[in-house]
Amino acid sequence: MDAARGFLIADVAHAARPAPAVRLRDFERRFGNTTIIEGLDLEIAPGEFVALLGRSGSGKTTLLRTLAGMDDARGQDVTVPSARAVVFQDARLLPWKKVWRNVALGLRGADIRQRAEQALREVGLGHRLNAWPLTLSGGEAQRVALARALVREPQLLLLDEPFAALDALTRIRMHDLVLALWRNHRPAVMMVTHDVDEAIALADRVLVLDSGRIVAEERITAERGDRTVLARGLRETLLRHLGVERGEIAEEAGVVHLARARA
Ligand SMILES: Nc1ncnc2c1ncn2[C@@H]1O[C@H](COP(=O)(O)OP(=O)(O)OP(=O)(O)O)[C@@H](O)[C@H]1O
Ligand SMILES: [Mg+2]
Repeated sequence: MDAARGFLIADVAHAARPAPAVRLRDFERRFGNTTIIEGLDLEIAPGEFVALLGRSGSGKTTLLRTLAGMDDARGQDVTVPSARAVVFQDARLLPWKKVWRNVALGLRGADIRQRAEQALREVGLGHRLNAWPLTLSGGEAQRVALARALVREPQLLLLDEPFAALDALTRIRMHDLVLALWRNHRPAVMMVTHDVDEAIALADRVLVLDSGRIVAEERITAERGDRTVLARGLRETLLRHLGVERGEIAEEAGVVHLARARA
C-alpha cells in the first residue's frame, strides 16, 4: 500500500515537472590551465526564458557555446535539445545572399522559400525578402537573424547580447518582438546580456555568473510589463552580484546609472 502510494506520489511529481530542456551537471570548461567554468549545475525548463548576466570574461559566451554545441563538451553531463538556434550580437548575414536566402540557409526541401518568407513576416520584414543584407539597418539585420533562428523551430533559442549594438528605442522594440516570438513558439531561451533592466523585463529567471559559478539566481513571477515596482530592489541585488557596490549606484528620479559600474 505504502509502496503503491509512493509510486503515485512519484508519478504525480514526475507529471508536474517535465524533463528539462537543458541540463548541465558539474560542468567544467578550461582553456589550458585556466578554469573558466567549474562545478556548474544548470537546468532550463521547456519554454522557460532565462537571462544570464555576468561581468566581461565571466564565461557567459563559453557557456552559451556549450549549449549551442559549438564547443567540445565530450565526457561531460550536458543535455540539450537537438533543435537549437543561436543569435549573436552581430547578425552574421552573408552579404552575397539575399535576405530570404540568409534565412533559408542550411534548410532543405521544396518549401524553404515559403518557410523563410513566413519567418520574415513574423519579424515584420515580409517586404524585404529580396533585399541585400548591406541595405538593412542594424535593427532589421538583427530581425533577419531572429527569423533565421526561428525558421529552425528551435526548442532552445540562445541569444548572446543580441540587442547590445542597437539604439535604445530599437532595443525596446526588439524586446517586444522577442517576447511575441517566444510566446508564439515557446522555445526555452537563454539570453546573455549586460543589461540588468533587459534581463528583468524579459526573463522568467535571471542568473549571474561569476568566476565560473552561478552566484545569484532570481525567479521573477510578476507579469511582464508590470515589473517596474519590483525592478529597483531586484536591480540592486543583481548589480551587487555583478560587483557594483551600493554607493556606486547613483539614482536620480528612479534611474540607475551604470556608468561607474566596475568593468
Ligand atoms: N578559445 C579560447 N581559448 C582561450 N581562452 C578563451 C577561449 N574562449 C574564451 N576564453 C577565455 O575565457 C574567458 C571567458 O570568455 P567568455 O567569452 O565566455 O566571456 P564572456 O562572459 O562572454 O565575456 P563578455 O561579456 O566580454 O562577452 C575569457 O577570459 C576568455 O579570454
Ligand atoms: Mg561574451
